[in-house]
Amino acid sequence: MGRKFVVGGNWKMNGDKNQINEIINNLKKGPLDPNVEVVLGIPAIYLAYVKSIVPENIGVAAQNCWKVAKGAFTGEISPAMIKDVGADWVILGHSERRTIFGEKDDLIAEKVTHALESGLKVIACIGETLEEREGGKTEEVVFRQTKALVPAIGDKWANVVLAYEPVWAIGTGKTASPQQAQEVHASLRNWISSNVSPDIASTVRIQYGGSVTGANAKELAACPDIDGFLVGGASLKPEFVDIVNATK
Ligand code: PGA
Repeated sequence: MGRKFVVGGNWKMNGDKNQINEIINNLKKGPLDPNVEVVLGIPAIYLAYVKSIVPENIGVAAQNCWKVAKGAFTGEISPAMIKDVGADWVILGHSERRTIFGEKDDLIAEKVTHALESGLKVIACIGETLEEREGGKTEEVVFRQTKALVPAIGDKWANVVLAYEPVWAIGTGKTASPQQAQEVHASLRNWISSNVSPDIASTVRIQYGGSVTGANAKELAACPDIDGFLVGGASLKPEFVDIVNATK
């Protein structure tokens, strides 16, 4: 199938220059599996700094952006600015953006469109809450969230990675079991096959995110429809190297 494994580290609002130096030095030591694509999601204020010290083969992502190139949007950053400091990626639609900052499917779609048009690659996040899972609504929710992305992505699927992150698993230590994760990834791929195209379904990479650690990464990575991870807490720790190397 040839989907290159892709591991994202989402630092969220963590890190200072000292800690960043430690993390990057640890990644330089690695060794990191050269067959895995690695992308680090950095707080906006440190994007340029990280870009200046990180090895070329590690991608750098912003964790959010606004939906136009410039203007009177106090506190926001644009894809043009992200690119200007040398970063190539942006994470959009993370559940913390959805729940804490009230971002809805429509706004996320507009951001995705503008980021892709500006030449950024996008990690687009979806996932159900505990209430939705317990109510049997997991598929309904992730299909709805993905459906909103389809017109926004247009013909740019090659520049998109989907991240399935069940909200109940994020930062809670409650990882989805490999079976639970694989089930959603497979049904998402089926949905994409029917609603976008079989070709895109077989090539799009779907990451799993939610309490991934060095200890559980291998088992999750062995699932046929899991093409990588989006890692929060553990991406700040030395075990991130083990997560990157989980398919070895
Ligand atoms: P976690 O976060 O690994 O700390 O659960 C994942 C994420 O929010 O992307």
